[in-house]
Amino acid sequence: MTSRTAAAWEAGPNLPATHRVSGLVYSDQTIFEEEKQHLFGKTWQLACHESEIPEVFDFRTFEVAGQPLVVSRGANGTIRTFVNACSHRGAKIVNDPSGNAKRFTCFYHHWSYDTEGACIDIPREDGYAPTGLKKEDCGLREVRTESKLGLVFVNLDDDAESLESYFGDALKPFEPVMGTGELEVFHFNRSILESNWKSWIETNLDIYHEVMHVTLRKTQVSAGAMKDRNFDLHKNGHAGIGGVKAKYGGYKGWGERDVASTLPGLDPNDLRVFEIFPNSTIIARGTVIRIDTIMPISPGRAVLECRGLGLKGDSDADRMMRIEHHNAYWGPFGRNVPEDAFAAEMCGVSFRTGAAKHQNIARDEDGHGQDDGILRNFYEEWSRRMGRPASNPVNRSEAS
Ligand code: FES
Ligand SMILES: [Fe+2]
Repeated sequence: MTSRTAAAWEAGPNLPATHRVSGLVYSDQTIFEEEKQHLFGKTWQLACHESEIPEVFDFRTFEVAGQPLVVSRGANGTIRTFVNACSHRGAKIVNDPSGNAKRFTCFYHHWSYDTEGACIDIPREDGYAPTGLKKEDCGLREVRTESKLGLVFVNLDDDAESLESYFGDALKPFEPVMGTGELEVFHFNRSILESNWKSWIETNLDIYHEVMHVTLRKTQVSAGAMKDRNFDLHKNGHAGIGGVKAKYGGYKGWGERDVASTLPGLDPNDLRVFEIFPNSTIIARGTVIRIDTIMPISPGRAVLECRGLGLKGDSDADRMMRIEHHNAYWGPFGRNVPEDAFAAEMCGVSFRTGAAKHQNIARDEDGHGQDDGILRNFYEEWSRRMGRPASNPVNRSEAS
């Protein structure tokens, strides 16, 4: 018999705990609430690229696991982030997605805050004199903000390790690419994904699914040797994929990518991926870079934010070329992102309904080819931070 009974389906194949992931991690409400606390509340989260707030007093609003935040460039250029909630009655202060403001004034009773988070104006302040409430007691809640390679990160945990320590030397391969200060965001897209956020991350870490994308079958699978691919696993769950080559002309209608327009530190045929644990990914393809961040809304729903980056000062022709290269794979109608979204949402259907009980991450190609080691690295860190093994999250005692 090759099909399986309900009991055998539930039990799954006989694999080490490190090589399987329980369906509960994608669907259970309690686990989801703990993820907000232990993962999103304690890890460095991507806020934006510095080029998105280039001028003094530029700001952007965003969320980390439901918490509204505002990141802003102050008078001396320092970037700070605040919880976007008023110290008075708690109203969300800034509602525009982005803009330029010397001060943030709450719509409700017009309390105002400067870009250092100080409360600088309270209308008819004398009314508080009898109770002794002063502006100095009413500053915004500042959130730790640090930058690396032009990327602005925040951490809701005041006691978290520094950003430098969080990455260690994991981002070194991207220093020649992103560390020159010459990149800027030219594309931003937000969409809702009907799946658990980790099913999206898996589409970035699971290189085995090249088989799903016709573009990757044509341009990538045979473009370089599987043995030349490598996976760098780092502490804190970060990981890189390198050694993957593409021959873009293999897909009908596409041309090879021009060496002269390649981004610094890259070869035109390079595909490099870097997973920023837990929920952001940098993908570089010769002429263009994509950075995506997946932010959970609920166990079965998430917001995907995608950024495309080119070079500051690009000629019009070069910028158009980068936009075309970006959109061909990664635009809302590209040949990659919508297909990945479909894959994540199909996993969402199975885990949301309980049809699938677990998945396996059991490919072992000795750290090359289409190895699942990078997925195992992700779930090892997930298990460590959650205090629950991803293979069997109801049994805390098995956590590594
Ligand atoms: S709630 Fe913001 S000023 Fe009153
Ligand atoms: Fe994909």
